[in-house]
Amino acid sequence: MESENWKPNFTIRFNSTQTPSKELGSSRIIMAAIEILDLEKSYLVGFWRKRPKLALRPLRLTVEEGEVFGFLGPNGAGKTTTLKLLMGLVFPTAGTARILGKELDDPAVKSQIGFLPEQPYFYDHLTARELLNYYGQLSGVPAKGRAARVEQMLERVGLSGSASVQLRKFSKGMLQRVGLAQAILHDPKLVFLDEPMSGLDPMGRREVRDLIQQLRSEGKTVFFSTHILSDAEALCDRVAVIHQGELRGVGAVADLTSGTQGKIEIIFYAAKVPAGLTALGAVARISGDMVNAVLPEEQQDAALELLRRERLKLISLAPVRNSLEEYYIQRLQPTDVEKEDEEDEARNEENRKGVGV
Ligand SMILES: Nc1ncnc2c1ncn2[C@@H]1O[C@H](COP(=O)(O)OP(=O)(O)OP(=O)(O)O)[C@@H](O)[C@H]1O
Ligand SMILES: [Mg+2]
Repeated sequence: MESENWKPNFTIRFNSTQTPSKELGSSRIIMAAIEILDLEKSYLVGFWRKRPKLALRPLRLTVEEGEVFGFLGPNGAGKTTTLKLLMGLVFPTAGTARILGKELDDPAVKSQIGFLPEQPYFYDHLTARELLNYYGQLSGVPAKGRAARVEQMLERVGLSGSASVQLRKFSKGMLQRVGLAQAILHDPKLVFLDEPMSGLDPMGRREVRDLIQQLRSEGKTVFFSTHILSDAEALCDRVAVIHQGELRGVGAVADLTSGTQGKIEIIFYAAKVPAGLTALGAVARISGDMVNAVLPEEQQDAALELLRRERLKLISLAPVRNSLEEYYIQRLQPTDVEKEDEEDEARNEENRKGVGV
């Protein structure tokens, strides 16, 4: 049982072989929706495919039922690899995982999960409606009511007007919407989304955010990967940061963003930054007829006094809150071990080039 997810005060954690979650008086029984137990994946790369490359170092992570969980990391971090492992699309080099208390290859799992792949591929001669009907059959949506369910999903992802258009005429964002519709078509308990906002215009992004919120309010578990931190901050209960195949941190968004940084931000009307402000340790920038300055909170009184002396009109003053972005950036800083690994890797690469392989 992992300590990071252990919640005291009447929360009873069951392990996967026990009863699913339900409310019992004031106590809350939580079942893990996803238990990743040291999953590891290495690919064989290089000309002779002999050199192992670790795409995912042993990953241990638990996602509770009903959570919206964000899996964050830069390009090449290992997000898609993790999702493919969980979907059984690639096999782990080591480790295992359980979904909704069952082994990954348990057929009962498949009907309860939905998946939006990173690059959804569809038979493009089909229309959106035909494709969803087809997926509905595959995922066991009962024939009675299937057509109505398809229409409902098309409506939900904003594609009702294009339901009879062949997918080859769809834009990237429209295909992404079809992908989302197929992921939730069979009303799964747990939804995996790989970069769900990718390729969408601002309106589309907003709609997907709303859709994820709706899934949350229906009690579903959503596990999605992204590098759009504002989406993660707005949507997620918890996030994990992964970098170079390694888990760098897990935390509740509310905790990560609740603190302040010991700095204040003041905004006031001025044509230029007053000279005395920089001496107070402020980092200031001018935008239009306003100045925005961030400075240590202990300089607040001195800064206000300076504005008063210079007869400058204050617009706002607020503490600078932690954002998910700071946490994320901080987690991506290379560790000493990694710096050494990178140097070794560079040396090996040089040697390989030297022997012409
Ligand atoms: N089939 C493969 N063969 C060899 N290496 C692979 C393969 N698939 C992925 N990798 C490597 O594994 C690492 C993780 O890739 P992955 O696709 O999981 O990253 P990601 O976090 O999803 O990135 P992105 O944000 O760009 O989608 C990368 O270094 C990638 O080059
Ligand atoms: Mg990816």
